Amino acid sequence: MREVRVRAPAKINLWLSAGPPGSDGFHPLATVFQAVSLYDDVTVRPRDDGEFTVSVVGPFASEVPADSRNLAVRAAELLAMRSGVSLGADLVIRKEIPVAGGLAGGSTDAAAALVGCARAWGVQADLFALAAELGSDVPFCLLGHTALGHGRGDQLTEVMSRGPFHWVFAASSEGLSTPAVYAELDALRERRRILARPPAVPDSLFSALVAGDPAALGVALGNDLQEAALSLRPSLADTLRFGLENGALAGLVSGSGPTCFFLAPEAAAAADLATALDTSGLCDSVHLAEGPVPGPRPLD
Ligand code: C5P
Repeated sequence: MREVRVRAPAKINLWLSAGPPGSDGFHPLATVFQAVSLYDDVTVRPRDDGEFTVSVVGPFASEVPADSRNLAVRAAELLAMRSGVSLGADLVIRKEIPVAGGLAGGSTDAAAALVGCARAWGVQADLFALAAELGSDVPFCLLGHTALGHGRGDQLTEVMSRGPFHWVFAASSEGLSTPAVYAELDALRERRRILARPPAVPDSLFSALVAGDPAALGVALGNDLQEAALSLRPSLADTLRFGLENGALAGLVSGSGPTCFFLAPEAAAAADLATALDTSGLCDSVHLAEGPVPGPRPLD
């Protein structure tokens, strides 16, 4: 048994449409995910006594639970239980992905813990089945690249995407709760008596991805959760407007927010926008990334 380090990418939703909640409380989705080059690092140090610990380091460390509430620990424990090993692990997470930001930081750490523990313990398991039990975004985080998600976002089909696309992220130090944003979406629809249409993705999004055409992709992006996130955090509208005024082709709230992401026409424009956002006072941290990138891979 040896230490394994895994690089875990953040995700964005290029498209997210949500139907009315089902009897399980979850909203049926049609969503297109893309993994981007903004990474946490998860190091797995195997233990032979069956115990699990986690420590978190990096800029967002203080915002993450460093105990068994951590989704990466729950992932490691679930894999040990289902594969019948009596081994444990010390997990060290270097957190670079903003927390509770709509970028699936916790989910990607969990996916990386599954990959890292399976490698460190030398076990074979259906990691996708375990991922779906841990959270709606964990299966995509395991897959990486670009994919269409149905159901809770866990029924995945790979999507062809040329790249790289150049993304800029404006993150907030105060997260938004995913259940609260979905509840706000329902409340807004109820108030306006809007019937949610069956979730679907426009063809123009897929053709923009295949063509690797940022201008066409900018027009095709969309997120049903954006209005709900803006309703809970109205200042995000200023951030989105600022991005559009400073060279972005498009800007969108990421997943349930509050991170906003912007599509730039090329790398230099992305860097210029990042610099402008950095001094705007509209957000707490700014990040640059490219997509698509592969899912979590052990670094040898
Ligand atoms: O699966 P996950 O733990 O990420 O979901 C967190 C919460 O987000 C759920 O308990 C639910 O309130 C909401 N959710 C939803 N519909 C989805 C995904 C999440 O309502 N498709």
